[in-house]
Amino acid sequence: MAAENPIYHSTHLTYGSYLKVPELLDLQHPRTTHRDELLFIIMHQVYELWFKQILHEVSGVCAFLDADQPMRAAQLLERVHKIQHLLIEQIPMMETMFSTEFAKFRDSLRPASGFQSVQFRKLEFLCGNKNPKMLQLVGEDDAARAEMATFLDKPTPYDHFLRHLAREDNNVFPIPARALTRDTTQPHERDEELISALEVLYRKQDENYTGERYYAQFRVAEQLLEFDEKFSIWRFHHVKMVERMIGSGMGTGGSSGAKYLASTLSRSFFPDIWAVRDRLGPTNLPAA
Ligand code: HEM
Repeated sequence: MAAENPIYHSTHLTYGSYLKVPELLDLQHPRTTHRDELLFIIMHQVYELWFKQILHEVSGVCAFLDADQPMRAAQLLERVHKIQHLLIEQIPMMETMFSTEFAKFRDSLRPASGFQSVQFRKLEFLCGNKNPKMLQLVGEDDAARAEMATFLDKPTPYDHFLRHLAREDNNVFPIPARALTRDTTQPHERDEELISALEVLYRKQDENYTGERYYAQFRVAEQLLEFDEKFSIWRFHHVKMVERMIGSGMGTGGSSGAKYLASTLSRSFFPDIWAVRDRLGPTNLPAA
């Protein structure tokens, strides 16, 4: 009887065995004897763990939107923002290493690079930065590449959000049918009709703070925007850190380094949610 109860099965479970702490602590293998290489490895590993959690939460966001539960989706997005906040705040930790120290072990990691992070690319693909060239650049095994490719055509959280809005009664948000059947291997491009649908949403919640009916959907839109914003802030902070570490030198992954990274700063996942703001400001102010 007792043996069938899972509580009895777990009597030997400990903190270390449940969390696999010994295995975790055995995953850092510096290639040099430089003392800062351990920090470099641990920081990247921690990022990868958080990328895993973000991917998990973003797929939860999509599932809640499919189930027409926008408040739940908003709650998970809020969690994702907290993780993104950590990812941004971690960068100064790397900057406690002087560039002269990094230079002493940098050659030993060539040609490995953050460029090849499979999970980072999955997240970009999932959210709309659908660049198939990246599949060729990731130097992991074929299985990893094939799995990444499945993320290229997944609908983005914004696609799931639009489908959710389109299910609202009386076509209150005029989402064009083509937006619901679009080719999801492509990034989102600015779409005036969708911006009009978002304008309806933003105006409805703003009816002197009495517009509660669509407040949850409004929160999701704002939180998707915040996700996008935080992603850009991470990119910006990463590129400044890279300049600080290696100046204008090439990256270990073979790119032009900070110059390439700076070129990614203008990317946004959800251009319509940025653009709707242009429709919401005061329109009758005299020119300055
Ligand atoms: C000393 C610290 C670091 C330096 C000097 C550095 C440098 C670079 C450079 C030069 C690139 C461009 C690709 C290349 O040619 O290699 C790059 C890309 C990248 N790095 Fe870092 N990096 C550092 C730390 C980190 C950390 C801690 C992460 C966390 C995961 C990270 C994630 C990435 C990612 C995801 C990319 C691809 C970005 C994109 O293609 O948009 N890097 N890094």
